[in-house]
Amino acid sequence: MNTILRLKEFYLLEMFQLTVYESQMASLQNEYIEHAYQRIIELERHHVDYYKETLQQHGEEVPFFSGSLTALAGRFLGGPMLDLTTAENRYKLGVAVETKAIEMYRAFVIEAWEYPDICKRLWNNMIDEEFHLLWFKDNLKHATSLVQSIQ
Ligand SMILES: [Fe+2]
Ligand SMILES: [Fe+2]
Repeated sequence: MNTILRLKEFYLLEMFQLTVYESQMASLQNEYIEHAYQRIIELERHHVDYYKETLQQHGEEVPFFSGSLTALAGRFLGGPMLDLTTAENRYKLGVAVETKAIEMYRAFVIEAWEYPDICKRLWNNMIDEEFHLLWFKDNLKHATSLVQSIQ
């Protein structure tokens, strides 16, 4: 696949991550979780900006994003969004989104090997996604064990 098309696809993938996490800010249960989400959102915004700026530098149009998560959830996760009223579901969605992103980054790193600048950035972004994944997995474990200890 051509690199410009990939950059556009990754712009949308990162917009998806950014919008998913921003949309959950109002439902978070405490200050610690809010800070963690804010930090994740900051990094996703850097990822979005990178694709946006790179496309613009190449004189390419940045894909249109309507702000609707449903279409992007279908495109990247192959199904509807989970109900996000519980922390457990929010973390499960985080795990699914980040796992998909890492899988896509692995493929793109191989495709973009002849462009060292892009490649370096892809590695960096992918490692950010790995940190996000670990955070969601760890918090999912706590959320699940909390539910079990209450029952
Ligand atoms: Fe990202
Ligand atoms: Fe991420």
